[in-house]
Amino acid sequence: MTRNFEGSANVRRLAAVHAALGDRIGGAPAQHEATAFASANIALCKYWGKRDHDLNLPMTNSVSLSLGSLGTRTSIRLSDMDRYWLNGELLPCDSPEAHRLAEYLDLFRSEQAPAFEIRSDNTIPTAAGLASSASAYAALARALDRLFDWRLDLRTLSILARLGSGSAARSVATGFVEWHAGTREDGADSFAEQWPEVWPELRIATLFISKAPKAIGSREAMRRSVETSPLYSAWPTTAWRDLASLRAAVGSRDFPRMGAIAEANALAMHAVLIASRPAIIYWQPETLAVLRQVELLRAEGLSVYATLDAGPNVKLLFLADLETALRTAFPDLAVVAPFFGYTNFSSHPLNAQKIDFA
Ligand code: DP6
Repeated sequence: MTRNFEGSANVRRLAAVHAALGDRIGGAPAQHEATAFASANIALCKYWGKRDHDLNLPMTNSVSLSLGSLGTRTSIRLSDMDRYWLNGELLPCDSPEAHRLAEYLDLFRSEQAPAFEIRSDNTIPTAAGLASSASAYAALARALDRLFDWRLDLRTLSILARLGSGSAARSVATGFVEWHAGTREDGADSFAEQWPEVWPELRIATLFISKAPKAIGSREAMRRSVETSPLYSAWPTTAWRDLASLRAAVGSRDFPRMGAIAEANALAMHAVLIASRPAIIYWQPETLAVLRQVELLRAEGLSVYATLDAGPNVKLLFLADLETALRTAFPDLAVVAPFFGYTNFSSHPLNAQKIDFA
């Protein structure tokens, strides 16, 4: 496998990896194969817009909630030729996903590790607006860390994951995770950090409106909406304000405030998208029907809020005591308890020493 570092983007990405790994760079792998898991995450204050496309540096900070056992399990093995399997299927080497993976792996190849085989299994539908690239690149960064035995801290792992996909920076940790935009050109200060708050009663549930791949990926949608949406100029100020309010709401365990900000933030992002030229409308008629139903449930006194990423699926935010009522309203609800059983984060699968790759 030959590496292509001619473009300035690749040179900058490689420099970022060198800065992150220091003298660990270029070392021999410690083992032949390694496996890691990363949870998907749902942003409560979204990452929308980049200050640097080469390094996936965002315009603003963002904050997410991790999705526990919903995520990606990735196994990486040394090989003489790259091959990638996603959910048991070999990815054609000319597919966009394979190109993106090969480019990412170029950052880590050495004489002793010229090529890799990768097997990834998602416990969430791929490319359906459920942040699967986030858990994919976070799991890959963690698997590389184990393969080479770098023993990276969270901050460095998040920097490596970010080079694969921006939102992956937040998937290297669990619970509430904030990703700092940073101001440095090399991105060394754009990393993720876990908030200390643990909120065991919090629930997040996904409503699968469509499992079909999106017509336009979030990367392209982000670029188009930043370049063409007349509403984008209002986004950074909105995001910074929402982030400050979220921090206060989570700090005081004020659920209705937290939910209302998360919902408003997601709707503002979709407003930016819809105003893009040409328009990017991810919503299906069912998306709007669910949003309306959430509004009606709130009018009946149920404290439930919605958020959406770049796709048609809606995620509901609520507290545990509402689960039964909401399962009645939405029979297909897949409920996640992000903190359940993980009040001690060392027991989270992400932090386990060894995860078997079935
Ligand atoms: C709507 O992280 O997929 O989910 O950095 O180009 O890989 P790239 O974009 P990506 O964008 C995710 C956008 C979002 C919001 C969020 O997760 O914060």
